[in-house]
Amino acid sequence: MKILVIGSGGREHAIIRKLKESPKVEKIYAAPGNGGISRDAECVAISAMDKEGIVKFSKENEIDLVFVAPDDPLAAGMVDVLMANGIRAFGPMANAAVIESSKVFSKNMMKKYHIPTADYETFDDPARAMAYIEERGKYPVVIKADGLALGKGVIIAGDHEEAQAAVREIMEDKKFGDSGNRIVVEEFLTGPEVSVLAFTDGISLKPMVSSKDHKRAYDNDEGLNTGGMGTISPNPFYTPEIAEVCRRTIFEPTVAAMNSENRTFKGCLYFGLMLTPDGPRVIEYNARFGDPETQVVLPRLKTDLVDIIEAVIDGKLSQLQIEWSEEATACVVMASGGYPLSYPKGLEISGLDENGQVPGATVYHAGTKYENGRFVTSGGRVLGVTASGATLQEALEKAYRAVGKISFEGAHYRTDIGKIR
Ligand code: AMP
Ligand code: GLY
Repeated sequence: MKILVIGSGGREHAIIRKLKESPKVEKIYAAPGNGGISRDAECVAISAMDKEGIVKFSKENEIDLVFVAPDDPLAAGMVDVLMANGIRAFGPMANAAVIESSKVFSKNMMKKYHIPTADYETFDDPARAMAYIEERGKYPVVIKADGLALGKGVIIAGDHEEAQAAVREIMEDKKFGDSGNRIVVEEFLTGPEVSVLAFTDGISLKPMVSSKDHKRAYDNDEGLNTGGMGTISPNPFYTPEIAEVCRRTIFEPTVAAMNSENRTFKGCLYFGLMLTPDGPRVIEYNARFGDPETQVVLPRLKTDLVDIIEAVIDGKLSQLQIEWSEEATACVVMASGGYPLSYPKGLEISGLDENGQVPGATVYHAGTKYENGRFVTSGGRVLGVTASGATLQEALEKAYRAVGKISFEGAHYRTDIGKIR
């Protein structure tokens, strides 16, 4: 098979590495890919949002399968366009990707189908939102832009002033553009967070092994929210009992709800959960693999990923047994100094070769370029240094040992990934 993977981050690198293990795969292309990906796949200079370009390339190169990994092209209907052109594609159609791209939609859906989530109200008028928050008078309060915002559209406001400022920034200053035309104002929940990715063909759903993301920029969960600074799998808080409650009250009801709304979801559905004292609640849905969750989840997959993708597309997922390794995995993100705000690019990365000396460690490239025989930084999150081990401790120790061998000017990483508080 010839497979085209759309996207350019660490998630896509991990997907490509896993696809390469399949005996069914003859050739992998990435659009646009990155420096590290270019060593594993042929990168083609087509934007992840260029629907016409992707269709044209797929036809000309007789691509058998297109894997659409990022949220933006899914929300923009990339899968719809590929399918209309007779090209097999993995990922939800736009009408189902809305579960991520509109928080107003997903909150209303959860309310309608009694899927447990934080209490909320939605607003399209800033004055009304402010009046509601004032009248409610409970802080912290969580304010979320409706649309996609690179994982940054959520503000936890500690008091009245912060809440009013958040509403202003999102709805009036349009900090996240049109994503802030509407907002969700919701109850602040507490408890450990869990990420569960699941394959679904719209009929059955198969959860993958659990993981835990570390979203804040600095140790001890301080600093700004980022796309994710590191992950571990499995998530130690996610017991088999909790998994069963989630399956019954959240996962299966979500698949059924999307079908009832005529928005059948096929692909990878991501459940961002909080284990509150009152039980598991949905914090957010994503319509895709998480980044950097994928970097710790896919290495544990033992079943051929191509077989799973085909079963999802063909509606035959229930017939497939999916197997996972018992090992633990950890991913430490090395980011550019300054991320998630502004940061320099083009800095040389050294130590990537020696990293091969830590057995069981893998470096997924997130924001790199390969230029004149060397890797340079080209994004906020630069590398996802990942390792597996018999225990979480062993995986973390290996990952941090590998991190220690890699350097670039201003490199920043958290030193407390996997620490359970
Ligand atoms: P999201 O982008 O929706 O995943 O939100 C980003 C982060 O904000 C989450 O990972 C949580 O840590 C936090 N968050 C979102 N919603 C809530 C909530 N209702 N209560 C407490 N924290 C929240
Ligand atoms: N790591 C969180 C996400 O992919 O949205």
